[in-house]
Amino acid sequence: MTQKLRIAIIGAGRIGYVHAGSVNDTPELELVYVVDPFEENAKKVTAAFGGKVSNDPSAVIASGEIDAVIIGSPTATHIPLLRECIAAGVHALCEKPLDLDIKNVEEFRAQANAAKINITLGFNRRQDPQYLALKAKVASGTVGSIEQVILTSRDPGPAPQAYIAVSGGIFRDMTIHDFDMARNFVPNIVEVTAFGANSFCDYIKEEGDFDNVSVVMKGANNELVTIVNSRHAAFGYDQRAEIFGDKGMLQISNLSDSTVKSFTKDSTTAGEPFMDFFLERYADSYRNELKLFIEGIKTGKVLGSTYDDGRAALILADAAHESAHTGKSIKVNLN
Ligand SMILES: NC(=O)c1ccc[n+]([C@@H]2O[C@H](COP(=O)([O-])OP(=O)(O)OC[C@H]3O[C@@H](n4cnc5c(N)ncnc54)[C@H](O)[C@@H]3O)[C@@H](O)[C@H]2O)c1
Repeated sequence: MTQKLRIAIIGAGRIGYVHAGSVNDTPELELVYVVDPFEENAKKVTAAFGGKVSNDPSAVIASGEIDAVIIGSPTATHIPLLRECIAAGVHALCEKPLDLDIKNVEEFRAQANAAKINITLGFNRRQDPQYLALKAKVASGTVGSIEQVILTSRDPGPAPQAYIAVSGGIFRDMTIHDFDMARNFVPNIVEVTAFGANSFCDYIKEEGDFDNVSVVMKGANNELVTIVNSRHAAFGYDQRAEIFGDKGMLQISNLSDSTVKSFTKDSTTAGEPFMDFFLERYADSYRNELKLFIEGIKTGKVLGSTYDDGRAALILADAAHESAHTGKSIKVNLN
């Protein structure tokens, strides 16, 4: 029997729990450690999926007891932990965003790209079955040459104020997924214009952040990408995409747990509620990104999102932030 890949989860919060579940579902992986300075969180994860509890990420990375980590700790810890992983020869699947400060990302870029370890970024939506199917259809020429991409992403409700306060703002925290998805179809974006509004949430305004934003971006081949985000949606988690080209259009609409629709004398359109939030809607994508990470470790390649994908998304987020606060359109260079 081949030996199992030994994994530590670093950060046992919302996303750490999801990743621990995916590790548990993957027979070729062994969850060895769950690491969190707040040990109670780590214990919740080990109670569900096994493994030892630690409160010291550095000690676990250097322990020689693990082959790979999944980094799901707060954003500011990502690059420092990646540095330690490189030093210890431990592979890393690292959550988005890479960092909130592009200077840190640029400074570490050469080392990250030259590293012998596998560094995969957690842009999970690229690995969602619906988006994979969309990408395959675009690649097979269904819409011809892409002219417009429209991405809609609205959360069911806003994160708490404490989270918003350290999130880096909606563009770096939330729109970052859409910036990456935009690049999944239009890799080379050259210009970004954004608007932000404070429509409903006082504490988001207090933090100097927006609760509703729209972004329009231009690709190098004249493609137009429109992103619409809101921190709330009365009808649930709203995740849609549309790709329009000279030969047609492809759309992804929201998913429900059931496809049963109701047709009565009063209504013919009532459906089930949409899947609640990212943990449910993108459950498959987290498992798929983990599979690609493992496959990448075996083949010595990064098969999922790369460090440079993380860098590009943050450059776009910074440009949108600047545009929304200055009213100017911002030219970007992702090379
Ligand atoms: N890909 C996605 O869909 C997705 C979804 C949610 C969050 N995220 C990202 O994952 C990261 C964590 O987000 P979350 O929502 O799970 O946050 P969270 O607050 O729920 O969990 C973070 C956990 O990390 C722990 N922690 C704090 N400092 C630590 C350290 N130095 N080492 C190890 N653990 C530490 C905290 O105690 C907490 O348990 C963020 O970067 C976020 O952007 C990604």
